[in-house]
Amino acid sequence: MVLHTDDLSTTEYISRVRKAVHGLGMYYHVITFGCQQNEADSERIRGMAESMGYLPSPTHEGCDLIIVNTCAIREHAEMKALSFLGAFKAEKKKNPNLIVGVVGCMAAEPHVADKLKRDFHYVSFTSEPNMLHRIPELIWTVMCERKRSFIFGEDRGDIVEGMPTVRRDRHKAWVSIMYGCNNFCSYCIVPYVRGRERSRESQAVLEECRELISAGVKEITLLGQNVNSYHSDIDFPELLSRIAALQGDFLIRFMTSHPKDTSDKLIEVMGSHKDKIAPYFHLPLQSGSNRILSRMNRTYTRERFLSIVEKLRAAVPGISLSTDVIVGFPGESEGDFEDTLEVLRIARFDMVYGFIYSQREGTRAAAFEDKVADSVKSERLTRLLKMQDEISLSANTPYLGRVLRVLVDSFEERDGIKVYTGRADTGKPVHFTGDGQLYEYVNVRIEKTGAFDLIGTTV
Ligand code: SAH
Ligand code: SF4
Ligand code: F3S
Repeated sequence: MVLHTDDLSTTEYISRVRKAVHGLGMYYHVITFGCQQNEADSERIRGMAESMGYLPSPTHEGCDLIIVNTCAIREHAEMKALSFLGAFKAEKKKNPNLIVGVVGCMAAEPHVADKLKRDFHYVSFTSEPNMLHRIPELIWTVMCERKRSFIFGEDRGDIVEGMPTVRRDRHKAWVSIMYGCNNFCSYCIVPYVRGRERSRESQAVLEECRELISAGVKEITLLGQNVNSYHSDIDFPELLSRIAALQGDFLIRFMTSHPKDTSDKLIEVMGSHKDKIAPYFHLPLQSGSNRILSRMNRTYTRERFLSIVEKLRAAVPGISLSTDVIVGFPGESEGDFEDTLEVLRIARFDMVYGFIYSQREGTRAAAFEDKVADSVKSERLTRLLKMQDEISLSANTPYLGRVLRVLVDSFEERDGIKVYTGRADTGKPVHFTGDGQLYEYVNVRIEKTGAFDLIGTTV
């Protein structure tokens, strides 16, 4: 069901907290772990915090409200968030009125939710990722009823529209188009913590894009765990072409795509809107072995995967491709791993994000018994990244001497000279000197190429 913050108690609680906080000069800080979806959620958390009258602070020190937006994808991400939380114990001693909230994917895992309740007494509230619109209510309960408050297991699969948002950038914006995941890849925690797929209505998405473009936003990234499973009154390729048809000077990106839903229609739309849709595609491979792909429940084969790569390159010449790979999935033999290396050699991705398999409680793969030793996993990742570095380096060499359009994100002064950083349409990071202009497009001639970035001067 689509709900609006005005129909929920969100707006009511925002104004209640606002009255309580009024004139007290209270500060908030949000810490974000995890993927772009979490980055986008944190913009909504900031939006609610500021609507409640809290002032932004660049650090957690001295704040009255700290919210940690967590990620559960790998054990490492969880350890980082928990050790971060430890620091707030002392803060809470200094300021007993401090409110600490833990939200996001970790707060939706039963064993973590229990642990936070039991062992982290200075955590005032928690909320699973799809219930963030209830943060104002949680804060009200903690502040005025002096009760710790926890939201767990209450996600009914709704979509909430109209949340206030404070965006990080003014030249780039995230637009969530769908939430959740139905794929249940056997290693992955996301379907358990983010719930089932739900898509926003196309009119709401188009309206948000229209507003962003008229506010001068140059790059819109459509977000979802599987954007190409988007389905409302229209499907994802249709949504893309309607956004591309909007008036203005802007570029559309999207992530993430699942190979199983990467249809010919989607590839065709990319080919026919090259002026508006970025020539970039993130297509997660995970493994190049059909046996492992099947155990991962990925529902495609390496052959089908490679045929999508070919079609993308044919439809959008010069397209930049990236992928995710997991090494050391249970049962992965040396032969399976070499199959992965082989697919990477054939596909020649511009960029590969390699991950060591991390067991997630409650997923199907956690019960698989043929685990791969840690030393083997790290050795495989090192080999994979080393091989890929050479491929990435040679994929970037043809850029030498070419002039690329770059959207400028930031600059840094080095020895009195401004060095700008931005991204080319392909998404490649570009560092350059010359006549840069923050948050605008500039043309840069590439004079040096590395495996990860390009270096040049404006023309
Ligand atoms: N919905 C996205 C992925 C989200 S997670 C998609 O399907 O592409 C981002 C990446 O993290 C995944 O592509 C996968 O490579 C990696 N990942 C997910 N679960 C993992 C696990 N248990 N251990 C290691 N890496 C994992
Ligand atoms: Fe996880 Fe697979 Fe869903 Fe991606 S598609 S979020 S890897 S279950
Ligand atoms: Fe992490 Fe949740 Fe994103 S588990 S990767 S923050 S969907």
